[in-house]
Amino acid sequence: MKAIRVHAPGGPEALSLDEVPRPVPKEGEALVRIEAVGVNFIDVYMRTGQYKMSLPGTVGLEAAGTVEALGPGAAAVKPGDRVAYCAVPGAYAEWAAVPVNRLVSLPEGLDARRAAAAMLQGMTAHYLTHSTYPIRSGESCLVHAAAGGVGLLLCQVAKKRGARVFGTVSTEEKAKRAKDAGADEVILYTRTDFAVEVRRLTSGKGVQVVYESVGKTTFEKSLDCLAPRGFLVLFGQSSGAVPPVDPQILNQKGSLYLTRPTLAHHIATNEEFLERSGDVLGWIREGSLKLTIDRELPLDQAAQAHRLLESRQTSGKLLLIP
Ligand SMILES: NC(=O)c1ccc[n+]([C@@H]2O[C@H](COP(=O)([O-])OP(=O)(O)OC[C@H]3O[C@@H](n4cnc5c(N)ncnc54)[C@H](OP(=O)(O)O)[C@@H]3O)[C@@H](O)[C@H]2O)c1
Repeated sequence: MKAIRVHAPGGPEALSLDEVPRPVPKEGEALVRIEAVGVNFIDVYMRTGQYKMSLPGTVGLEAAGTVEALGPGAAAVKPGDRVAYCAVPGAYAEWAAVPVNRLVSLPEGLDARRAAAAMLQGMTAHYLTHSTYPIRSGESCLVHAAAGGVGLLLCQVAKKRGARVFGTVSTEEKAKRAKDAGADEVILYTRTDFAVEVRRLTSGKGVQVVYESVGKTTFEKSLDCLAPRGFLVLFGQSSGAVPPVDPQILNQKGSLYLTRPTLAHHIATNEEFLERSGDVLGWIREGSLKLTIDRELPLDQAAQAHRLLESRQTSGKLLLIP
């Protein structure tokens, strides 16, 4: 089968289209024929070596498709079932062997492309707003990269919970997308000092939580956006890693909280995985959570997908189609 693999860390050209054996499902696994692959920023960190992966290795953590065969003891699904998954390595490929406790069945009417677009970024928006800082009606939050894949979903889910949502974006076009996703105020952080703007728009009070995925270029100012005892939820580093932080800064800026969460710890059990994915897919099905698919590219154009994502040219989800 075709798979996109990394042999040595590097730029987008490190993504190599290889012919590899089709996986054989082991104990508790299902063989899934992949119909759509979700591209995520974490795939870039893995390609460049910022996050470790075993080499040579197939990139990608998220896909949707059809179960074709089962390994021993894999009883929760059957051949022909339409499924989606995330947080399992090896998705940039035509087939994958996936533990059945990581699979969710697609609700009637939800196609593989939309399911692959929803899982990882949707469940991230879910745990950030429901578990890491369960935002409540009447509170305010700041969402960086509000027109990105996670960003557009995070704006919608925070709005659903009754929050006032501030978003940052780099262009006017992205500002419109973030507004359409429910952001009350959108700040062009490439032109304006977003911390000054957030203070102005909150009459000096600041927000209860910053959902911070940009990292290096925004981290310090994000601290300045918080109300006393506010939460800085650092969940990504699209602009680069944040340098070491002196904890004393949290005291000086208002007894702030800093956390660095990751999805894996919020879907660690099958129960939690099914609960979060069930909520996300259910919202999509009922129309209360809208997906934006920026574009779909053939699997062999994975390098182009990474170039677009890294150069900030996308808004919403990128898919690869095997
Ligand atoms: N911890 C977790 O559980 C978890 C789970 C999922 C995702 N994440 C993180 O969430 C972030 C968003 O992921 P995503 O897949 O949805 O990507 P994305 O937001 O669609 O793309 C990244 C966006 O970041 C902004 N950005 C700002 N400075 C940038 C720079 N120097 N280079 C590239 N982009 C820059 C850009 O938006 P503007 O053009 O508007 O600036 C860009 O479109 C990533 O950092 C990812 O690692 C974390």
